[in-house]
Amino acid sequence: MYSIIPLSGDPGVGEKIASLLGGEIIRTYTKDHPDGELYLRLEGRVRGKRVLITQSMYPMQDRKFIELLLAVDAAIRGEASEVNLLISYLAYARQDKVFLEGEPVSIGVILKSIKDLGVGRVFVVEPHSDIPKKIYGEGFVEIDGVTPLAPQFIGEEELAIFSPDIGGIERARRLASKLPNVYAVYHIEKQRDRYTGEIRSFISEEIDLKGKKALIVDDIISTGGTIANAAKLILEKGVSKVYVACVHPIFVKGSIERIRASGVSRIVCGKTVKHYVEGVEYIDLYMYIYTKIAEILFPSMSYK
Ligand code: R5P
Repeated sequence: MYSIIPLSGDPGVGEKIASLLGGEIIRTYTKDHPDGELYLRLEGRVRGKRVLITQSMYPMQDRKFIELLLAVDAAIRGEASEVNLLISYLAYARQDKVFLEGEPVSIGVILKSIKDLGVGRVFVVEPHSDIPKKIYGEGFVEIDGVTPLAPQFIGEEELAIFSPDIGGIERARRLASKLPNVYAVYHIEKQRDRYTGEIRSFISEEIDLKGKKALIVDDIISTGGTIANAAKLILEKGVSKVYVACVHPIFVKGSIERIRASGVSRIVCGKTVKHYVEGVEYIDLYMYIYTKIAEILFPSMSYK
């Protein structure tokens, strides 16, 4: 028997996986102690069962992380035969190195805590970089979050694909490889002031994109500053439309307005967090996620 434990941040993926698997759902009971601490209890037995805990770490990243750790510990103490995790959005992944003296490697703290509790596999949708996999090691499974967005752009002719920074170029190429009519793949130069967070973007190549459309591909939209800067630069190159494809739609307050004001006409995002803003097309990734997880956890199973 496979048991799925969906936590409070999961945008519905756990339930859908359970129904595809014919697995059981085990709910959690949670409450806040009077002083604000989180209490959690599993509402079903996990003894001897294979368990998949599903969570997404936004909004309230710290709270979602504690909830995740408590659920993992409860499942291990309840003698589950194995405990695996699906994290649709892994928070803290952008602090994956020491950029300024005195900083921690935040994603290392997150992943080591999970691993130390005894988790087996951790499935993470589009984890920002390859550093989390290097930190966690064997058992860390990346799930491609951009490929399932590609069908939304299949009908578009001669799309110029852009990564808003050099770090995301592989992601942009990955999406481009799934589209039939890509004109070219470019990246924008992006410099972030590590003290103020201010972004400076520019395009170093001489390119003329008159009559073309552009698609910017990114993993996360938070303040929208990266996308807005990129869109303005791309529109200066003569494109008729700028679209955006993004895996994790964080959208802090004011971000959607900033992006719209920059001239973006369409925003397509994965449904990886339980936070929705108007004007964004959300694409359910559960089928894709399920297939990837099933390939690894149930290699002998015939998919429903
Ligand atoms: C940065 O490396 C990420 O890939 C995103 O481009 C970034 O997190 C977006 O943040 P914001 O929307 O605040 O510019």
